[in-house]
Amino acid sequence: MKGVILAGGTGTRLRPLTNMLNKHLLPVGRYPMIHYAINKVAEADINEVMLVTGRHSAGLYMEYIGSGRQWGLDVSYKIQEEAGGIAQALGLAEDFVRPDEKLLVILGDNLFEDSLREEAHAFAREGSGAHVFLKRAENVGRYGVPMLERERIVRIIEKPITPPSSYAVTGIYMYDNSVFEIIRRLQPSARGELEITDVNNEYARWGLLTYSVLHGWWIDAGTHQALREAGARLWEREEE
Ligand code: DAU
Repeated sequence: MKGVILAGGTGTRLRPLTNMLNKHLLPVGRYPMIHYAINKVAEADINEVMLVTGRHSAGLYMEYIGSGRQWGLDVSYKIQEEAGGIAQALGLAEDFVRPDEKLLVILGDNLFEDSLREEAHAFAREGSGAHVFLKRAENVGRYGVPMLERERIVRIIEKPITPPSSYAVTGIYMYDNSVFEIIRRLQPSARGELEITDVNNEYARWGLLTYSVLHGWWIDAGTHQALREAGARLWEREEE
């Protein structure tokens, strides 16, 4: 199984901090945000990771992460020229993943407590289709929200006005290799982006979108308030 960390995007909700530094390099607790996603991939026993980011600050990622040796990882890098959406960024990893291989994808601004180790091993061994991680949250209308039917997701609605459940779809996904074929066929959404929710909904249509629920805390650190909250959580843990 390969790991893909997505750290592109514009970080508009974190301006002016992101005027001169890419969001995933901002400090959270003792480390730059990107550190935590790298840790999660390493903790899941994945050895090869691709980091996708924009031109902005790209060299700083290499300075911080290097070859990945410090984590026991082999890290490669890919540049997303424009912020054309999460699915577009993921599509850039196509040549990195072998046709028979699965992948774990983490959005670099998602900070969370749970280990992905067991789920990643299980998916690598016997998973097919796609698997997403959900978290019960307040104000889920800010996220992708799933319509659930027992162990399957029927459909995800992106930033719904009337959420169909009280779960957020987190930015942690596992896919089989058909994800790249789906991305190639995607059309841009109304906001001009290739949406990860459209990818997941294609799997849902095939009846192949499963999920797990995170037990520990989860924060999408894309806003000033969330960034501060994540910092506080991680300080607590790092001081132990
Ligand atoms: O955090 C979970 C949410 O992430 C999900 O619930 C939503 O379904 C999903 O669409 C996404 O929503 P956001 O509005 O938070 O996405 P955002 O545009 O903030 O992008 C999140 C991460 O994706 C960001 O940390 C970097 C990466 N990204 C994003 C874009 C638009 C890229 O690498 N390239 C891009 O072009």
